[in-house]
Amino acid sequence: MRVLITGSNGLLGQKIVKYCLANNIDFVATSKGDNRNNSCSESNYKELDITLQNQINDLFSTVQPTHVIHTAAITNVDYCELNPEECSLVNVTATEYLMSATFNCKAHFQLLSTDFVFDGEKGNYSEGDKVNPLSKYAVSKVKGEQLLMGSPETNWSIVRTIIVYGKADNLSRTNLIVWAKETLRSNGEMKIIDDQFRSPTFADDLAKGCMSILEKEKTGVYHLSGPETMSIYTIVERIAKFYNYSMENVVKMSSATLNQPAKRPPRTGFSLTKAINNLEYSPRKLEDTLDEC
Ligand SMILES: NC(=O)c1ccc[n+]([C@@H]2O[C@H](COP(=O)([O-])OP(=O)(O)OC[C@H]3O[C@@H](n4cnc5c(N)ncnc54)[C@H](OP(=O)(O)O)[C@@H]3O)[C@@H](O)[C@H]2O)c1
Repeated sequence: MRVLITGSNGLLGQKIVKYCLANNIDFVATSKGDNRNNSCSESNYKELDITLQNQINDLFSTVQPTHVIHTAAITNVDYCELNPEECSLVNVTATEYLMSATFNCKAHFQLLSTDFVFDGEKGNYSEGDKVNPLSKYAVSKVKGEQLLMGSPETNWSIVRTIIVYGKADNLSRTNLIVWAKETLRSNGEMKIIDDQFRSPTFADDLAKGCMSILEKEKTGVYHLSGPETMSIYTIVERIAKFYNYSMENVVKMSSATLNQPAKRPPRTGFSLTKAINNLEYSPRKLEDTLDEC
């Protein structure tokens, strides 16, 4: 097994690298620009801008991966809403380039996707539920999924996940849980919405789930998230309670007042039955992971 990871400077990318190192799995980590993951040696790293098809094809013919985990994406939902062409280039066109290079190598292609493919009216979504994306980011992820679902190739998997959190080196953006924990500790002010419900997902657990799909030779769509669905406000409240931090500077607000460029689904959350049964997926509760953040 030789795993090629895209987006290895990102949160999930770094955790996949960590998993491969811990389990002695051969891997090549790739990201745009220099390696910013302190755990990844330069000999395991190759610079790769996924929007450059020639660069992809040259690298794949040298590396000859058996598996590709495609985590790289523009993940800022509001940025995608305001920059739809760039969003489409990185999240859709580049996925098509990578997919085709992977299948030329007869390798497995794993695409990371999101709970935002759903409209959030139902919640507790199963893999077969109907998608209905509300934002440009969500549409780009659905289009990426459709490239695989409509392909004659079958050696692929799609992993949908929800609010990924954890600590990693030199990330280009922080994540909700780490930011909330740091802001609560310094008693800083926070405005937090209480009308959107999510299942926060610890990045290390997600990385393990992604790798289980490869190791157990599974294909198809998998929902991998944390085990509990709660409002964003409750997430912050639970962090405060766990560390005995004050909530005095945390203001509850509604999504409408926040007025963000991209529309978000009100309630997501996943049914994890398939992942538990097929992958022995066992994600940890928020409180069991906070000390590692
Ligand atoms: N984070 C979440 O809450 C969440 C929720 C649902 C689904 N997902 C999906 O899960 C996947 C991993 O998320 P994550 O949290 O690890 O995201 P992340 O930390 O934002 O990592 C994404 C990585 O992609 C890299 N990238 C962007 N454009 C690139 C390009 N043209 N070529 C090569 N690399 C490029 C970024 O590089 P820079 O660091 O240099 O910008 C970044 O390191 C994504 O596909 C995302 O859509 C994430």
